[in-house]
Amino acid sequence: MEQIFALFTIFLAFAFSGRCSDVFSRSDFPDGFLFGAGTSAYQWEGAAAEDGRKPSVWDTLCHSRNIGNGDIACDGYHKYKEDVKMMVDTGLDAFRFSISWSRIIPNGRGSVNQKGLQFYKNLIQELISHGIEPHVTLYHYDHPQHLEDEYGGWVNNMMIKDFTAYADVCFREFGNYVKFWTTINEANVFTIGGYNDGDTPPGRCSLPGKNCLLGNSSTETYTVGHNLLLAHASASRLYKEKYKDKQGGSIGFGLYLMGFTPSTSSKDDAIATQRAKDFYFGWFLGPLIYGDYPDTMKRTVGSRLPVFLEEESERVKGSSDFIGINQYFAASVTNIKFKPSLPRNPDFYSDMGAYVTYLGNFSVIEYAVAPWTMEAVLEYIKQSYNNPPVYILENGTPMTQQKDTHRVEYMHAYIGGVLKSIRNGSDTRGYFVWSFMDLFELIGRYDYGYGLYSVNFSDPRRKRSPRLSAHWYSDFLKGKTPFLDSQGIKELQSNFSPSS
Ligand SMILES: *[C@@H]1O[C@H](CO)[C@@H](O)[C@H](O)[C@H]1NC(C)=O
Ligand SMILES: *[C@@H]1O[C@H](CO)[C@@H](O)[C@H](O)[C@H]1NC(C)=O
Ligand SMILES: *[C@@H]1O[C@H](CO)[C@@H](O)[C@H](O)[C@H]1NC(C)=O
Repeated sequence: MEQIFALFTIFLAFAFSGRCSDVFSRSDFPDGFLFGAGTSAYQWEGAAAEDGRKPSVWDTLCHSRNIGNGDIACDGYHKYKEDVKMMVDTGLDAFRFSISWSRIIPNGRGSVNQKGLQFYKNLIQELISHGIEPHVTLYHYDHPQHLEDEYGGWVNNMMIKDFTAYADVCFREFGNYVKFWTTINEANVFTIGGYNDGDTPPGRCSLPGKNCLLGNSSTETYTVGHNLLLAHASASRLYKEKYKDKQGGSIGFGLYLMGFTPSTSSKDDAIATQRAKDFYFGWFLGPLIYGDYPDTMKRTVGSRLPVFLEEESERVKGSSDFIGINQYFAASVTNIKFKPSLPRNPDFYSDMGAYVTYLGNFSVIEYAVAPWTMEAVLEYIKQSYNNPPVYILENGTPMTQQKDTHRVEYMHAYIGGVLKSIRNGSDTRGYFVWSFMDLFELIGRYDYGYGLYSVNFSDPRRKRSPRLSAHWYSDFLKGKTPFLDSQGIKELQSNFSPSS
């Protein structure tokens, strides 16, 4: 009896949530709010060795570890016109993509590759002429291999100058049409993955059991984080001094943020959860908003955490016009204490003193529909970091089916979460689905299928096909109220033929 009652209550809750609080349409969002979808250079373009492009550290890691590669990827380099047409059909306001540094300046420094410039000019022109706003990331896991070989890439502060010179070329060549720049994509995960864990480019680490050739997980993670902040601040200053008056754009910095929740109600886990926020968010947001690292980090990391000179701190503080956020799921946080008697080189996780685990069902790849994570992250940034302008640069879930009803539910819920946050005062100004089409993924290669459009990677033509979610998003963007009760889903499905 109790069970039946509980079921009945759940039904009622669904019926109501479908009818009132979750009903919204795009006209509920503020004027100028941008809806889009994204890709990145190595994951979408292909043409890895064409027209003068040289390898980035991502190419090198893929080929040396034999973990699949983006040599061809979606072949966006040749198919961009077709893709822009799909964006128009879908009704996107904006397209987020990244520029391949080694396509523009193949050795990272020095001569500029005109054919590389031309590709991005063509792409940007195609977008602009169809009324689609380009949202451009300068760095997405892919600095030129030449700089890694020459001086160690981001572990060396010589990168600051080379990155700024690369940004200068991009501002000069594309800035008349590009109003939104993100310098660094998800700086925290790039740094942890590439220098602490060594699983993602450039694959450096010193953790036992990993097969990194070079690296030091105790120190490089923090050195690289520091250099990314200084490089961002330097590019941002250059933009303000040389381009902003004429071009009128804005510059942001990207982070990957999880909705953290303590794994138990213990006091230790609550404190560990705040530490996790300081290590994942405050590590970059502290310097960007307040000019310095959080005290918790300074205390635990000690001399391994670089120190900002006063003028550096002044330069980093306020250097982001907006914060770019990649948000996907919740993570539970458990306090850990390492026994000091055990000899162990400290790394990011032991410094943080917490286990962070993905909260969800590991047996399916799809992320749980948990929009509270989006709301929690946006609320935390609003309250703890003076409510800066925010763009959600990535949100989505892997799912390979064409009838991706789960993704529709996920997107509907998360977009609703963004709206709730805005209504409670968050200065969020845009939302981008990851990804516009299936890509070569950082984790999961070609098997994850994040796309609104699927891509047949066995087909030499890399045929794209809309998923149910592409139709749903398109309806939403064109102003229809996306009912998500069972009737609405049925209607959407009945109008859907996977080959359309
Ligand atoms: C990492 O660098 C620190 C500080 O220079 C040093 O003490 C430690 O031995 C290094 N670890 C490895 C694995 O090289
Ligand atoms: C809404 O904003 C207020 C003021 O910042 C805050 O106290 C409150 O917790 C927020 N509500 C939610 C649901 O986040
Ligand atoms: C993908 O393309 C290959 C090669 O053209 C074709 O044999 C296969 O049927 C396609 N798969 C789907 C799901 O369309």
